[in-house]
Amino acid sequence: MTTGPGRTAPELGADGRAGLEIRRAVHDELGEVAALAARVLPDVGSAESLQASVARPAAELWVAVSGAAIVGFLVALRVDAELEVLWLGVDAGQRRRRVGARLLDAALAGCSRCHLEVRANHREAQAFYRQRGFFEAGRRRAYYPEGDDALLLCWSREGGPHG
Ligand SMILES: CC(C)(COP(=O)(O)OP(=O)(O)OC[C@H]1O[C@@H](n2cnc3c(N)ncnc32)[C@H](O)[C@@H]1OP(=O)(O)O)[C@@H](O)C(=O)NCCC(=O)NCCS
Repeated sequence: MTTGPGRTAPELGADGRAGLEIRRAVHDELGEVAALAARVLPDVGSAESLQASVARPAAELWVAVSGAAIVGFLVALRVDAELEVLWLGVDAGQRRRRVGARLLDAALAGCSRCHLEVRANHREAQAFYRQRGFFEAGRRRAYYPEGDDALLLCWSREGGPHG
């Protein structure tokens, strides 16, 4: 994992919300992120699998911090100007407050393209990504271990096929 500059002063969000800090994680926060992931995104699996993902050289781990608590996280792989989002999760009590949007915007800074897979039956996540400008670019049949299909969602800074 390439780490960011570490802890900085919280900023006011674009929505005027004070006290929510979006930044790259530091290494000693992995355990807290793993605990949040276990609550909000069981697909992530064990703390060890999260650790293995963020140990990849291209991996970035972003966190949203409110007060002393991590309330959201995003794991992505960045190769040149292309980003692949592996996981994004927000604490259930903090949803619909633009935490997810701000994590995604922070990770997309400097990128020209992004892609990710989302469960075909996960309408809420699809609504979130579509609202952020993602468009459906394909379907991967039986992509998940239980046989669920995945939709491939893409984003381009120039806009999608309808953007
Ligand atoms: C998907 C998720 C990350 C969204 O995070 P969030 O912080 O609640 O989202 P935001 O507040 O930034 O939402 C921005 C916009 O996306 C859309 N959106 C977000 N959640 C939505 C939902 N459940 N249903 C419909 N639209 C939704 C809305 O347009 C929303 O704007 P609005 O609240 O003004 O209507 C969060 O619901 C989550 O962690 N879910 C469980 C894990 C998951 O599914 N992760 C994604 C797949 S890897």
